[in-house]
Amino acid sequence: MKCYNIAFFASHNGSNMQSIIEQIKAGILCSKAALIISNNSNSGAAEKAGRYGIPFYHISSKTHLDENERTAFISELYDEFDISLTVLAGYMKKFPPELIRKANGMVLNIHPALLPKFGGEGMFGMNVHKAVIQSGEQFSGATVHLVDSEYDRGRILLQESLEVSPDDTPESLARRVLEIEHRIYPALIKMLELESIKIPMPVSTV
Ligand code: GRF
Repeated sequence: MKCYNIAFFASHNGSNMQSIIEQIKAGILCSKAALIISNNSNSGAAEKAGRYGIPFYHISSKTHLDENERTAFISELYDEFDISLTVLAGYMKKFPPELIRKANGMVLNIHPALLPKFGGEGMFGMNVHKAVIQSGEQFSGATVHLVDSEYDRGRILLQESLEVSPDDTPESLARRVLEIEHRIYPALIKMLELESIKIPMPVSTV
């Protein structure tokens, strides 16, 4: 069994992060929620960090003007908290290649659609669900994938699908997909802990 020190990155509500933290608290996952980073000091993620007593850092252009400074600061935090797994959960900023290298490629993201469809720049939040409904897709779902230098293009690790109903609105679809997300993100971390899935070191992240 491999237990990780997790750094979460979340910009908004942080419900995916919470689903993982809850499984850690319940002893289902042996990893530790070591650190939460958000570019938004008023986010639900910030509130949850306080509620769970997890070290929280607001890092944005307001706290560090220069991107290199932000990256260097995060890199120091990785050393301080001995981070071994990075979990992006609704993080609206690009994750820099320097940090992917620092994290040895162990950087996960969750996307609210069946990648490689409906991913890429601009495909976030309700945009994704609107696009799925507009295109008349029969299925949608959620994807956990590795993060590389392009949005939503890294190796797919786990997916679960659902059938899009003719009655679905973007909002109802978002709700149903989020339920899947809350199931498969912790499930994938469990698979990593059990070493039933292995992530190779990245050949190139730039
Ligand atoms: C989720 O739908 C996730 O797939 C996407 O952003 C949303 C974040 O939701 N990347 P939450 O902040 O975890 O509630």
